[in-house]
Amino acid sequence: MGYEEAVSAHYGHGGIEEKLLGMITADGGNPGHFAPADLHGADQLHVGGALATTRIAGRAGINGGSHVLDLGSGMGGVSRHLAHDFGATVHGVDLTPAFVDLARSLTERTGLSGQVTFSQGSILALPFGDNSFDTALMVHVGMNIRDKDKVFAETARVLRPGSVFAVYEVMLLGGDLEQFPLPWAASEETSFVQPPLAYSDALAQAGFDVDYEAKPLAEGIEFLEHAIAGEGPAGVDKDAIVNLLAAFKAGILAPVEIYARLA
Ligand SMILES: C[S@@+](CC[C@H](N)C(=O)[O-])C[C@H]1O[C@@H](n2cnc3c(N)ncnc32)[C@H](O)[C@@H]1O
Repeated sequence: MGYEEAVSAHYGHGGIEEKLLGMITADGGNPGHFAPADLHGADQLHVGGALATTRIAGRAGINGGSHVLDLGSGMGGVSRHLAHDFGATVHGVDLTPAFVDLARSLTERTGLSGQVTFSQGSILALPFGDNSFDTALMVHVGMNIRDKDKVFAETARVLRPGSVFAVYEVMLLGGDLEQFPLPWAASEETSFVQPPLAYSDALAQAGFDVDYEAKPLAEGIEFLEHAIAGEGPAGVDKDAIVNLLAAFKAGILAPVEIYARLA
């Protein structure tokens, strides 16, 4: 199995849609039609959940006129959030076929299919022409990507000059990462965490100017503590969350946001 197949197999296990729709029913809602926020962020697979998405969208300047590319869109939670709360038009690309199917199904059920669309594929080779988007987001995806340079070069190609690229990832701050599983990988074979400097160098190489960096560590720790108590993203192994929390507290890993602009 190649490494992309192993990444896709890690995420593509079943039962998540039933779990999410079960949440809606348990709250007295209609699983055929509900608002994105009714999932309480369980469809957003990143540290900080919906709160982090709201902050990132604000910092990236996303609004009703934005045409956003969501790189590694997972179940589509980030894309729907940007469309529903900020009015953006969003296209998500993801490697994992089961997630793309789930993203489409949830988007249909939230009535956002006219504004939010998805493609299955690798962000190492984007299926779009040059200058197709005015904003890009990559949220907790690079940890699974060995060739980040390629992704950033592809992103630069499909963005218009002056566009904002917001990158929100778990990054390596120091020490050795020994404790697996982590939420994105069962072993080091599919984990490619890197320091913030490696990201900013690769972004600069692809033609981006880095504007701003933030490290919402305290919020991340609080989020993971809640997730361990059962209020987190759907389908994530509890041992993986416990290991991530330990790595945050040990100063090995941290959530980092980088905002860059295409020159
Ligand atoms: C931790 S999830 C984050 C999903 C989403 N960004 C969110 O925050 O809810 C990582 C996602 O990256 C996707 N992914 C990993 N490598 C990819 C690649 N080369 N191309 C496209 N998607 C990829 C996985 O399939 C998975 O859905």
